[in-house]
Amino acid sequence: MTLTGRGASARAPTTAPVLELEQVTLELGERTILRDTGFVVNQGEFIGVLGPNGAGKTTLMRAVLGLVPAAHGVIRVLGQPVERGNASIGYMPQTRSALAGRRVRGRDFVAMAADGHRWGLPYADAATRADVERVLDLVGGRKLAERPLSELSGGERQRLLLAQCLLGNPKLLLLDEPLISLDPHHQKSVVELVRRVQRELGIAVLFSAHELNPLLNSIDRVLYLGSGVAALGTVDEVITRPVLSRLYGSPIDVMRVNGRIFVMSGDVEVEKHDHEHEHDESGGHSHSHAHPQAHGHSHGHSHQHDSSDGHTHDV
Ligand SMILES: Nc1ncnc2c1ncn2[C@@H]1O[C@H](COP(=O)(O)OP(=O)(O)O)[C@@H](O)[C@H]1O
Ligand SMILES: [Mg+2]
Repeated sequence: MTLTGRGASARAPTTAPVLELEQVTLELGERTILRDTGFVVNQGEFIGVLGPNGAGKTTLMRAVLGLVPAAHGVIRVLGQPVERGNASIGYMPQTRSALAGRRVRGRDFVAMAADGHRWGLPYADAATRADVERVLDLVGGRKLAERPLSELSGGERQRLLLAQCLLGNPKLLLLDEPLISLDPHHQKSVVELVRRVQRELGIAVLFSAHELNPLLNSIDRVLYLGSGVAALGTVDEVITRPVLSRLYGSPIDVMRVNGRIFVMSGDVEVEKHDHEHEHDESGGHSHSHAHPQAHGHSHGHSHQHDSSDGHTHDV
């Protein structure tokens, strides 16, 4: 496991890693979002990005896109320092609710994100057209694409958004909270779809979410953010009392019940608790109750497993 800094990753990459952070510090205004953080994501990995509201999941993705410059350190994508407009990255941003009201036909919507799109001329050339059909096939979305966005369910729109991200054959997908406002059934189908496509194409995915459980059966590793720190490793390595207590800056218990994992602060389920605040999110709210964010370093973090959770890893 990598816990803020160097450390061997679970697999040896055969080629340049898809994503590398080297002693990266990210700042927004006066706030330090990530401090001196390093990790490596390899090709073909599906990474769940977890952490409380405000932990920096979105900021990290924007930094990988070159939209937030690193205050210190280097971020590399496929061995190259980040740059804006990198065609090897597909991005699904977090705010998408406005799409629900749009009358635009699914296929046209997907095509809008393709290179060469011009207003009123969505199918600029044959290569773009072929790419649109390719990505619609990948997500099983050809039929959906005949209908306007406004007539699709949240899960169906998510399918088309995924198709958009796949245009141009990216090697890394950054999917920011694709499960927000989906019911559990649709959450499951979106996660399974992303997993299938990710494997089929052999690409890497960073998939952020509030809750770990919908991702448990699909992810290769988890990247957990909190208190300016990042921990990357398998679920068993990261979702433990010592690691999460450090990230939340307060004592955390990890409970496993029937193949599900609950991250608790006292009797409050912290991931769920955060999620309840999702809809009044207006940028500047405070959410310090469940996880008093200790921004000081707490050293002496342990890499050993929490022995109190029984470790029945039937997930
Ligand atoms: N432009 C900005 N200037 C200053 N702080 C910001 C800005 N945008 C976001 N933040 C703050 O940075 C922190 C990280 O935000 P974000 O990356 O959106 O977290 P997450 O996606 O994990 O919820 C939050 O505390 C947020 O309020
Ligand atoms: Mg976010």
